Amino acid sequence: MLIETGDTALHVRVEGSGTAVLLLVHGFPFHGGMWDAQLGALPDGWRGLAPDLRGFGESPAGDREDWSMDLFADDLALLLDGLDLDAVTLCGLSMGGYVAFAFWRRHRDRVRALVLADTRAGADDEAGRANRRAVAEEVLEKGSGVVAQAMVPKLLAPGTRAGRPDVVARVRAMIRGTEPRTIARTQLAMAARPDSVPDLPGIDVPTLVVAGSEDALTGPDTARSLADGVPGARLDIIPGAGHLSPMERPDAFNRVLGDWLRAL
Ligand code: MLT
Repeated sequence: MLIETGDTALHVRVEGSGTAVLLLVHGFPFHGGMWDAQLGALPDGWRGLAPDLRGFGESPAGDREDWSMDLFADDLALLLDGLDLDAVTLCGLSMGGYVAFAFWRRHRDRVRALVLADTRAGADDEAGRANRRAVAEEVLEKGSGVVAQAMVPKLLAPGTRAGRPDVVARVRAMIRGTEPRTIARTQLAMAARPDSVPDLPGIDVPTLVVAGSEDALTGPDTARSLADGVPGARLDIIPGAGHLSPMERPDAFNRVLGDWLRAL
């Protein structure tokens, strides 16, 4: 389904028919299809939405060039307007978590609960920003294949890389299928994102923090400090998963998520 959102439109997968809504925000540089296993295992009473952010998957890039986590968050608010939905449980993985923090700052009355998966609250340091600028230039010159080659080993746990060729192929295909311009613009947008650590003590909705035990980018220590920052947050570590825990260990991830959603 394609929903108009101002200067663009968002393609969104919708599953389930409950009144409680789970909005699943993908990481970088993927699309809403990374949540297929979660959409297929929603608890009773829940509807799941997994949009492609602008420029990703089947969503057009739109006219605006000033991409930011705020713009992605505002697109999601327009998506909810278009679907006539008010408040949701917002689940973001990695960059999806950065978008969730922006959504919290800008539209907190629409957040019923938060799931922060394999993500961090802090902004980039100068070395991180410089690296993103370099990747943005390189991808425009050489194409998305170079990003896939560089990222896949860091994204997936060794066990996933050795034993789940289907997941490796899917992740590689999602990255290769993302337009170089989308990758470049989003890298610059992530480089410019603000520090969300000061927001953590003010998060007053139920919050679940999840990370793969072998996440090489935002691992258990990062998840622990994130959970420590949010009053009353619950922390769960998914054994054997890397940075893409919902794809790598979908059954374990769904158990943690489903139990928590049912208890809300
Ligand atoms: C992601 O998975 O969304 C990325 O690792 C986020 C980032 O590059 O910081």
